[in-house]
Amino acid sequence: MDIFSKVSGYTAARDAMAAGIYPYFLPLTGNEGTTVTLGDRELVMCGSNNYLGLTADPRVKQAAIRAVEQFGTSCTGSRFLNGNLALHDQLEAELADFYGKPAAAVISTGYQANLGTISALAGRDDVVFADRAAHASIVDGGRLSDAKLRRFRHNDIPALDRALAAVPDGAGKLVVVDGVYSMEGDLCALPEIVEVCERRGARLVVDDAHGLGVLDKGRGTCSYFGLTDRVDLITVTFSKSLASLGGAVVGDEDVIHYLKHHARSLIFSASPTPASAASALAALRILREEPWRAERAQQNAEYMRAGLGQRGISPGESATPVIPLRTRGTIETIVLWRELIDAGVYTNPVLPPAASPRLRLSFMATHTTEHLDRVLDALGARAEHFLADDEPDVDDGYAVEALAELAYSGAAARP
Ligand SMILES: Cc1ncc(COP(=O)(O)O)c(C=O)c1O
Repeated sequence: MDIFSKVSGYTAARDAMAAGIYPYFLPLTGNEGTTVTLGDRELVMCGSNNYLGLTADPRVKQAAIRAVEQFGTSCTGSRFLNGNLALHDQLEAELADFYGKPAAAVISTGYQANLGTISALAGRDDVVFADRAAHASIVDGGRLSDAKLRRFRHNDIPALDRALAAVPDGAGKLVVVDGVYSMEGDLCALPEIVEVCERRGARLVVDDAHGLGVLDKGRGTCSYFGLTDRVDLITVTFSKSLASLGGAVVGDEDVIHYLKHHARSLIFSASPTPASAASALAALRILREEPWRAERAQQNAEYMRAGLGQRGISPGESATPVIPLRTRGTIETIVLWRELIDAGVYTNPVLPPAASPRLRLSFMATHTTEHLDRVLDALGARAEHFLADDEPDVDDGYAVEALAELAYSGAAARP
């Protein structure tokens, strides 16, 4: 059997493209942060994780430009060998200081930070526990490790407790959760999770990709709960509030030292480019100096949740700038997404298996009230046809395959 045979059978995405309803890889030609250019149109961007609006900040841009001038465009290798700059070490020191932890390891992406951390720490006799809503990089880290991977129902602490209790003596236990869940915008039940982990002798990693820069004046989920000291490791990404590309893991000196010598995603992959490291560092400093940004991002989210409520639209469990809008199904998701694009609003359509069908919206400190009202008006006019009151309990198949059905049925029209 030719292993490529699945390739020729894969027509779903092309069919969706042909029907003009393919929602991925949109080629933007301009990006001002709060607005983007698609074709000849300017759209309000409500699908970005640029929570503090720093991608367009002149200080962050200048830091990147200066780093390119000083160090060139790439480090062309792993930090382990030729690709380590004093700049990477400085970023580690300032991240550790920011979190009030002894040490940090900068890794090339947030995805790789989770992959490397989990797979380096969990071995054959160990068990990794991940929340069912945890990010793909956490699941993939568990799979890459030789450990057993157990998923527990979202924020179901009694279920986690039972699963931990069932682990045989002698097996190591690593619990990994998101601080803020990326598809729902809700928080992990950190106080309960910390208590269970301590009682059951499990180590705890919190991925704070969406908490950093947002919660507790930007200090993140663990600080928000006052529990930074009782969380073993915090993983972060630079690709959201820090307006760059890269990731890191923060924790105790010995653990970070071990990870820097065992995390394969750090050792066998090139370091963040000079521009990436410098812009992340500049953004981190701004985040600390300008706590109003985190507060404004939250205020804008609150404004949106209130405005949605007034229009009879549920913002789900959102407690952060991530707001999910549940749709009635795949077709409704795509048609609504498409209509919003036409109305000048960019959102992210999310389909199974990533999550139940929804539009994922996210808001920035730099969105103006005018931007937000435009989004509310566009949504308000369409909610009745497309949005669900409750989460649909049908799993309506894989995303692009479902789009293909859409293409076949010619159902791009309003339902
Ligand atoms: C919760 C979470 N963890 C990790 C990542 C990966 O981060 P990066 O984009 O730096 O690979 C993301 C990004 O989508 C995320 O949402």
